[in-house]
Amino acid sequence: MVIYNISVLVSGGGTNLQAIIDTINDGTIKNARIGLIISSNPKAYALERADREGIHTSVIRKKDFKNDEARGEAMARELAGAKTDLIVLAGYMNIVPEKVVNEYEGRIMNIHPALLPKFGGLGFYGLNVHKAVLAAGEKESGATVHFVDNGVDTGAVIKQGKVPVLAGDSPEQLADRVLEVEHKILVEAIVEWIASLRSQ
Ligand code: GRF
Repeated sequence: MVIYNISVLVSGGGTNLQAIIDTINDGTIKNARIGLIISSNPKAYALERADREGIHTSVIRKKDFKNDEARGEAMARELAGAKTDLIVLAGYMNIVPEKVVNEYEGRIMNIHPALLPKFGGLGFYGLNVHKAVLAAGEKESGATVHFVDNGVDTGAVIKQGKVPVLAGDSPEQLADRVLEVEHKILVEAIVEWIASLRSQ
């Protein structure tokens, strides 16, 4: 039976990573394992989540490399070392070097906390996204799983999930509501990606 190796890129709290860990452990995600977690931030709580699960981690910080080509080389080596079949960006805050995007085209996905193509692109991350959604008077928001290309949040949409924007929502309240649907659709997208390979 083929077991697909997932590498997860993180920068922060890692709740999306935890959703993947939990759903591999409970059998929702079958035929896959997380072989590597790469963090852009040595202090990311996501790394503690990884350690609890005994998952191999690596920190690849922009400031440790003279340029994106060097960072891409290092990242590509780690990903190859882990025999990566699928890359999942889960709260990853750096731009993925072109070398990696090109090498893993069609098997690198990202979770974004808005209904792309709206409220995406440079500067639209974290609470900024939800502040913009509220400022625009949107009646609904949500999350998007999309393939990563060399743009910012511009790759083909894989799956979206919607949540209502409620009167009086603070950015934090909306973020919490969106985060729940992020976890749900990210896991679904991974399950469906694996199923699409197994059916070939
Ligand atoms: C989430 O809003 C996610 O969409 C964004 O980063 C935030 C934190 O994600 N990319 P996580 O809790 O670190 O997975």
